[in-house]
Amino acid sequence: MTIADLVPSEVVPLLTTRWLARPYHYYPTIGSTNEVLKQLAAAGKLGHGAVVLANFQQTGRGRLRRRWQAPMGSSLLLSLLVQPDWPVEQVQWLTMLASMAVVTAVSQFISVPVGIKWPNDMMLQYDDDWRKFGGILLEGEMDGNGRLRQAVLGIGLNVNLAVAELPDAVTPPTSLLVAGGQPVSRRDLLLALLAALEQGYDDADAGHSPFAGWQAHLMTLGTAVQVTQANGDVLAGEATAATDSGALLLTTPDGQEHTITAGDVTLRR
Ligand code: BTN
Repeated sequence: MTIADLVPSEVVPLLTTRWLARPYHYYPTIGSTNEVLKQLAAAGKLGHGAVVLANFQQTGRGRLRRRWQAPMGSSLLLSLLVQPDWPVEQVQWLTMLASMAVVTAVSQFISVPVGIKWPNDMMLQYDDDWRKFGGILLEGEMDGNGRLRQAVLGIGLNVNLAVAELPDAVTPPTSLLVAGGQPVSRRDLLLALLAALEQGYDDADAGHSPFAGWQAHLMTLGTAVQVTQANGDVLAGEATAATDSGALLLTTPDGQEHTITAGDVTLRR
């Protein structure tokens, strides 16, 4: 597998999408694909459907101010720009449809179960455990009327990292190579992912919620979890369900149900 496999001349002729990744911007090295895409969009240089992808990120970012690190040439690191004009209640549809696109694409290349740890950690199940191989970082902008004007969806997937290259992380990490035992073509995975993302977005834009599919893949449900909320509060209980707006419902031992809208989930065993 060569480093050159994600350059535009290798990817664009094979795209099956109508509007996504048109244009497709490739950087050998970048700070963060989310940051560069936001800057280009703010300068009016890119519009709906543009994709920025990098072979290496120097300052890749994860949720909750964490870093996202991956060796050069090992991963899929991309951001897409969408301008949905959806009501604010639907903002989490974007992470739901992106998570489901990752499930659809990755399932074509690996036979182990693919799941989602709330809210949008991408997980693989093997050796009786779930491990994280990817994540999604959504950065949205509302207009003055409570509608989603623009969103940048950053997606990072550990594809061909060896065990020794896996990052230190709160959630046990893995890659498609480690979980499946063989390398995966980043280009073929990217093409499948972009096709699934476009389909998922078109469905959502036509008013079909991605919620049911997303909830069905939430491996968090029915398990004992500890949730660290955005304000630092920690709650322990059972994750019982999710809501169409993307919240997690947690029942604590005193029988109270809590609605969690943002935070970090640790699985308790
Ligand atoms: C998470 O699980 O915390 C989300 C990780 C998102 C990482 C991707 S890599 C491409 C894009 N650019 C970034 O700086 N972050 C996202």
